[in-house]
Amino acid sequence: PHLLGDGRLLGGVAELRAGIADRLTADGLATTREQVIITNGAMGALSAMLDATRGPVLVEDPTYHVALRLLASRSRRVVAWGRGPSWDVDALHGVLRREKPSVAYLIPDFHNPTGALAGNPERDGLAGLERRVPLIVIDETLRELDLRDGDRNLDRPAMPRHLAELLPDAVTIGGFSKIVWSGLRIGWVRAPQRAQRESLRRFTDVQPVPVFEQLIATELLPHLDEIIATRTGRLRVQRDALLAGLRGHGLQVVTPPGGLVAWVDLGAPVADELVARLAPHGVLAAPGREFGSAHRHARFLRVPFTSDVGVLAQATERIARELEVVRRRKA
Ligand SMILES: Cc1ncc(COP(=O)(O)O)c(C=O)c1O
Repeated sequence: PHLLGDGRLLGGVAELRAGIADRLTADGLATTREQVIITNGAMGALSAMLDATRGPVLVEDPTYHVALRLLASRSRRVVAWGRGPSWDVDALHGVLRREKPSVAYLIPDFHNPTGALAGNPERDGLAGLERRVPLIVIDETLRELDLRDGDRNLDRPAMPRHLAELLPDAVTIGGFSKIVWSGLRIGWVRAPQRAQRESLRRFTDVQPVPVFEQLIATELLPHLDEIIATRTGRLRVQRDALLAGLRGHGLQVVTPPGGLVAWVDLGAPVADELVARLAPHGVLAAPGREFGSAHRHARFLRVPFTSDVGVLAQATERIARELEVVRRRKA
């Protein structure tokens, strides 16, 4: 039926919006079809949100480097909230008082680049925040990429609550590229406020999302659970192989409970030199500096575990070999 109309669908294909709303509702976040707007990938969702808002943007430090690029290209002031293995909510309140950001972009579910998962007690520390401050909270979720041990519904702990369950005005964003294929440019925004939805719709009218891609995503909806189970099963094996290889060479890395990447501590601020030496060998790791404060992250390397185990073994050997060269030069 979509092919009979003019193909301009404000907000996106209705069945896709409904399917995403149903999945969020089944996951504990009651959502209506009207609250969901389809975008060009998750980063299209973030772009739309940035264009719909003004003022400084609080981010976790480190945070997803593509998001930082989107902020830089819009000349938005970035307010850094230092992140360790967990959120420091006391530090957050200090940052909010001092810097007064108007927007916060957070990745509580399998944060990129650390893979960390904020627990319920940490999330509780944010409850009521956006109404007290005021602050527009954007929660980017990677919750499908749960790589914690245990069988899906049996001994694996439940996922913590969505931020929008605690912060009713929070906007949630997600996408298909991380769970299905990076080439499938379908993302979504769940915007609970009508005014926000109006400005987001204006944005998607300027940059419409291809209807064919939306129809592919719609066709995939009934199979998503199976796709996610297969993908996470494979990612778990690949993650464990990568970590075993890196640790075998004496490198320190915290096991990421989910996501697509490992955040590797090189023990010294040599990530830039190492990345430059790895690139000619086709090993595409990213230096910590790209993910936030250069001085805090220069000793970290972000390594994806999206390749198969054989490729990861070769990459690990190459990382260890080139790191040895870089260290010897610095000594
Ligand atoms: C935090 C985060 N956001 C977004 C993306 C990808 O976004 P898109 O849907 O635009 O491809 C990734 C991919 O790894 C990611 O880790």
